[in-house]
Amino acid sequence: MKIVVTGATGLLGKATATHLVAAGHEVISVDRKAGDFAAGSELVVGDLTDLDFCDKVISGAAGVVHLGAIPNPTDARQFNVFQNNTVSTFAVFTAAAQAKVKTVVYASSLSAYGFAYSDEWSSPLYAPVDEAHPFIFEESYALSKEVNERSALMWSRRCKTAFVGMRFPWTNTPEKTLELARRFNDEDNLPPDPRFPKGIVAKILWTYLDLRDAVTAIEIVLNSDITGASVYNFAAPEIMAKAPTAELMAKFHPTTEIRSPLPGHTAPLSSQEFVDTFGYAPRHLINRDEI
Ligand SMILES: NC(=O)c1ccc[n+]([C@@H]2O[C@H](COP(=O)([O-])OP(=O)(O)OC[C@H]3O[C@@H](n4cnc5c(N)ncnc54)[C@H](O)[C@@H]3O)[C@@H](O)[C@H]2O)c1
Repeated sequence: MKIVVTGATGLLGKATATHLVAAGHEVISVDRKAGDFAAGSELVVGDLTDLDFCDKVISGAAGVVHLGAIPNPTDARQFNVFQNNTVSTFAVFTAAAQAKVKTVVYASSLSAYGFAYSDEWSSPLYAPVDEAHPFIFEESYALSKEVNERSALMWSRRCKTAFVGMRFPWTNTPEKTLELARRFNDEDNLPPDPRFPKGIVAKILWTYLDLRDAVTAIEIVLNSDITGASVYNFAAPEIMAKAPTAELMAKFHPTTEIRSPLPGHTAPLSSQEFVDTFGYAPRHLINRDEI
């Protein structure tokens, strides 16, 4: 199958393109930044906010994996992240509809719920957080993810392409996840690190996903017969912390209504909808003894 992967010189994009090449697909890697990309794929450099560019690269593709975006709210005035992430996504969806692509898988984010990047501390209204949990964000990265999910819904009403949004948590290599987990475990004693603002691990509800599970899930969606527009939480079923989930929730998110028990290190976020629909749950879990 010919598959276009956007954001392909980025973390998730390169890993996805590499996985899809190994699975035997013809892969076009697309990014505005030339850089390291998947061996065995073709790199096309251009800006996804340009609809003509999107039409050219997506023409003839059966699948699109859209991962090109600014992946956090780095933007004090909120404008650039919103503009880049929503316009590029709308252009990719528009081109995919025109090209009669079968399936578009795109990255949404658990940040869309709003706890991760809020200036003021904020907590889930209830846990486990499922897809019905309201978005209570206050910054443009999260807003762009909601807009993109709505763009997918609109396009699904205008064409036969399926649009599947993946609400990913912190998604990285096992080494980087371990580094983050260790930082949380010893946060009060470690010198500040601008990459990991204090409290960030509690704000993301200690959730994570191994890159290998992310790329496997994307491939499963591409090979499925899903139709319409849908969105799914997709995170490891356990947290990246030593302490039990119930204890952490009581300490960091005491206002959250616990709707069903969180035994042991169960993630306070449900990916059950994805598991029920596609039959795959993340299986690469952190070794807590190494934290
Ligand atoms: N990695 C995570 O922890 C995580 C978690 C949740 C969601 N996500 C989402 O997954 C996607 C990929 O994230 P990542 O971590 O690989 O980020 P990344 O920054 O490593 O890669 C993103 C790539 O997109 C490219 N890009 C941005 N705007 C573009 C444009 N207009 N045209 C062409 N290319 C453009 C960048 O050049 C970059 O190479 C993003 O949508 C991000 O929001 C990532």
